[in-house]
Amino acid sequence: MKFVCVGGGPAGLYFAILMKKADPSNDITVLERNKPDDTFGFGVVFSDAALDSIADADRPVYDEITRGFFHWDDIDIHFKGEVLRSTGHGFSGLSRRVLLNILQRRAGELGVRQVFQAEVPDAEAFRDSDLVLAADGANSTIRAKYADHFKPSIDWRPNRFVWLGTTFPFKAFTFYFKEDPNGLWRVHAYRYDADHSTFIVETTEAAWRKAGLENATEDQTIAFCERLFAKELAGHRLLKNRSLWRSFPIIRNARWRHGNIVLAGDAAHTAHFSIGSGTKLALEDSIALRDALLAKKSVPAALEAYEKVRLPQVESYQRAAQVSLQWFEDTERYMDLEPIQFGFSLLTRSLRVTHENLRLRDPAYVASIDTWFAAKSGAASNPAPPPLFTPFRLRGLQLENRIVVSPMCQYSAEDGVPTDWHLVHLGSRALGGAGIVFTEMTDVSREGRISPGCAGMYKSEHVPAWKRIVDFVHRGTRAKIGMQLAHAGRKASTRLAWEGMDEPLAEGNWPILSASPIPWFPHSQVPREMTRADMDKVRDDFARAARMAEECGFDILELHFAHGYLISSFISPLSNVRKDGYGGSLENRMRFPLEVFDAVRKSWPEAKPISVRISATDWAPGGIEPKDAVEVARLLKAHGCDIIDVSAGQTVPYSKPVYGRQFQTPLAERVRIEAGIPTMAVGNISSYADVNSTLAAGRADLCVMARAHLWDPYWTRHAAYELGHDLPWPDPYTSLKRFTPRFK
Ligand SMILES: Cc1cc2nc3c(=O)[nH]c(=O)nc-3n(C[C@H](O)[C@H](O)[C@H](O)COP(=O)(O)OP(=O)(O)OC[C@H]3O[C@@H](n4cnc5c(N)ncnc54)[C@H](O)[C@@H]3O)c2cc1C
Ligand SMILES: Cc1cc2nc3c(=O)[nH]c(=O)nc-3n(C[C@H](O)[C@H](O)[C@H](O)COP(=O)(O)O)c2cc1C
Repeated sequence: MKFVCVGGGPAGLYFAILMKKADPSNDITVLERNKPDDTFGFGVVFSDAALDSIADADRPVYDEITRGFFHWDDIDIHFKGEVLRSTGHGFSGLSRRVLLNILQRRAGELGVRQVFQAEVPDAEAFRDSDLVLAADGANSTIRAKYADHFKPSIDWRPNRFVWLGTTFPFKAFTFYFKEDPNGLWRVHAYRYDADHSTFIVETTEAAWRKAGLENATEDQTIAFCERLFAKELAGHRLLKNRSLWRSFPIIRNARWRHGNIVLAGDAAHTAHFSIGSGTKLALEDSIALRDALLAKKSVPAALEAYEKVRLPQVESYQRAAQVSLQWFEDTERYMDLEPIQFGFSLLTRSLRVTHENLRLRDPAYVASIDTWFAAKSGAASNPAPPPLFTPFRLRGLQLENRIVVSPMCQYSAEDGVPTDWHLVHLGSRALGGAGIVFTEMTDVSREGRISPGCAGMYKSEHVPAWKRIVDFVHRGTRAKIGMQLAHAGRKASTRLAWEGMDEPLAEGNWPILSASPIPWFPHSQVPREMTRADMDKVRDDFARAARMAEECGFDILELHFAHGYLISSFISPLSNVRKDGYGGSLENRMRFPLEVFDAVRKSWPEAKPISVRISATDWAPGGIEPKDAVEVARLLKAHGCDIIDVSAGQTVPYSKPVYGRQFQTPLAERVRIEAGIPTMAVGNISSYADVNSTLAAGRADLCVMARAHLWDPYWTRHAAYELGHDLPWPDPYTSLKRFTPRFK
C-alpha cells in the first residue's frame, strides 16, 4: 500500500515506522517542511504510565527513547517561600530533537522515504495514495484546506506562555509561582538531558501586557525572565529557540477523516502542556491507526474504526487537560490557600490524579495532608482520618462525615404524603452511613408539585408522615436529615419522570406560575407571570413549610433555587424577562428569591442551618455564568445562608452541558473561594478517592451524590471499609464487627 505522511513530527514518523514494520512492502513517504535537525522547543515529558503502549508497539524505538531519558520522581512546588516536595510521580524528560532523531533513524532503517524541506500545500497531489496522514501539527494546512469536512474548532486560551530552555539542572519537576508588580508568573520546568532543562513561563494576558512583553523579541523575553528568575536560576542562562510568547490553542475536530485523508497528532487535537500529553497522544494516534488498518479489510473501514475508537479517548484527555489549564489560568484564585493545600490543589488539578493515587505514590505526603485537614476540621488526628470522615459543623449542626445523599424525586407520594417507599428509601441511605440524607424536592404547595407523585409539605397530614421518617433516621442511625423545599414553577403539572420528563400531563393539568410567561417546551403549558399577590403566597408557603419541617425535627433545610423551578426561573435571565423590579439586573432578579430566603430564615430555628441549591451556570448563551453564581452566593451569604449546594443547568431545555467526571466540582470551588462560603459539590462524583481529593484541595466542604447512592445505599460504609475507617454500626447490626465482606 502507498502511504504519504505530511509532517515529520512524532505522529507522522511513528505512523510511518509502524506501517513499514507491519509490512515492509508498504511504500511510505514522510514529507517535512523543515530540515532534520530544525525543531522548536526543548524537551518533552512522558509519564511512566504512557510508556507501556510505546514499548509494545516498537521495541527498538522504546529502547532508544528510554536510553535518552532523564528520569525523576519528585515534584517541587515553590510557593511563597516554601518548597513542597511530593514524590513517586515517575516522569521522564527527553530532548525533542533527540526524539525526532531517534524516529528519523528508525524510519530510515526500515526503508521509509523521508523528504525534508518539502512544503505540502494540500493533499491533491496524493489522490493516488491509499492514505494521506495529515500529521502537520497544530497549524495544519491540510485541516484548514478541508475545514468543511473536518469541522475544526480552535479555542485560543487567554494566558500567554513562552517555551524556553536553561542549563539549570532541575532535580525535580519544578513549579515556581512568583509575583512581581505586573502579576503572577508560573514556571513549569524539568530536566530533559544531562545539561538542559525546559523552562516554560506562563502568565495572564494582563500581566504579560503590563510587563511590556507584547512586542518583545526573543532576547528581550530572555532578559526579562532572567531578571525575574535570577535567584531561581542561580547564575544559569535561559536559552531561546523560536521562543515567542503565544496563547495555547485547544484544537478539536468533529471528524478526523475525509476520503483517504486522516488527521493525527496536534493536527487533530491539542492537550495543554501542563498535562504533558501532546507527544504521547500523537504516538498513540499512530498506534491506533495502525491497529485499525491491520484489523480492517479496507482503508475507509479502518479510518472509520480509528475515529470511533480514538476520538472519545482523546476527548476524555482533553477534558482533563482543560481543567488543568484552567487551574493555571485561575492560579490567582488559589494564592490565599495555605501552602500545603495549594500544593495538593495543584497536584490534583486535572481531577484525574486523586488523593488515592497520591497516597500510593507518596504516603507520607498524603498523611501530612490528612493530618492538616483533620486538625482544621477538629477531628482527632492520630492517625488522621481521611478527609471524607472528618466532621463538619454548620451553626448548631454537627455532621459526622462529609457525605450527603442528594435530593432525589421518587414520584411515589400520595397528594404530597410520603409513603413507606420514602421511609425505606431514606432510611436505608441513612443506615448506609452518609452524614446527611436529604429528602427529595418537597413542594410547598399542591400546585407547586412537579407531578402528581411529588412529595409535599403543605397540609397537616404531611407533618406526622415526615416525622415518622425523621424519627427513624434519628433513632436508628447517626445521619442527619434535611428537607429540600421547592416550588416547581413552569415545570409543574408534568408527568412522573419515567412517563415523560417535563412533559405536560395527559389530563388533569393545573395552572402553573413562573417569573415570566415562557413555557418550558413550546408545547408545554404557558405559565402565568407571577403577580405581587402570587409572590406573597409563594413566600408564605415556603415559610409555613419551613415551620412544618421544624415540627418534624429536620436538622437542615435546603431551598431549591436551581434546575429551572420557580425560584430559579427568577434568577436566570433566560426565564426572567420581567420589566418590573423583579427582572433586569441580577440584583433585581435576586429580589424575590432573597425575600423567600429571608422568610424561611425567620421561620426556621436560629441554630439550624439552611443550604441553597443553585444552578451555577445555565450552559446556554446569554444565561447565568459562573461569575454570576459567585454573585448569587455572595447575596445569599449576606442574608444568612450557610452553605451553597452548587449544581448547574436544567434551567432551559436547550442548554448544552459539558458532562464528565465531577463536571460541576470546579463551579463549587469557584463559589467557595470567591464568595467565601462553604459549598457542596455535586455531579458525577462516585469514588471516595474523588471525595477525598475534592475536600483536601478545598474545592468543596461536602460531597453530594445522587445516583451513586441509588446504586449503593451503603456507599459511605463501603468507602469506610476500603479506607480502613471504623464507622460504627447501629446496635442491631453489631454482629458485623466479626464479619469481613468479600466483594471480589
Ligand atoms: C510549550 C509546549 C510544551 C509542550 N510540552 C510537551 C511535553 O512536555 N510533552 C509532550 O508530550 N508534548 C508537549 N508538547 C506538545 C507536543 O510538542 C506536540 O503535541 C507533539 O509534538 C505533536 O506531534 P505532531 O507530530 O502531531 O506535531 P508536530 O510535532 O507539531 O509536528 C508536525 C510537523 O509537521 C511539519 N509541517 C507542518 N506543516 C507542514 C506542511 N505544510 N508541509 C510539510 N510539513 C509540515 C512541521 O514542521 C512539524 O515538524 C508541548 C507543546 C508546547 C506548545
Ligand atoms: C432520580 C433522581 C431524582 C432527582 N431529584 C432531584 C430533586 O428532587 N432535587 C434536586 O435538587 N435534584 C434532583 N436530582 C438531581 C440530583 O440531586 C443530582 O444533582 C444529580 O443527579 C447529579 O448528581 P449525581 O451525578 O451524583 O447523580 C435528581 C436526580 C435523580 C437521579
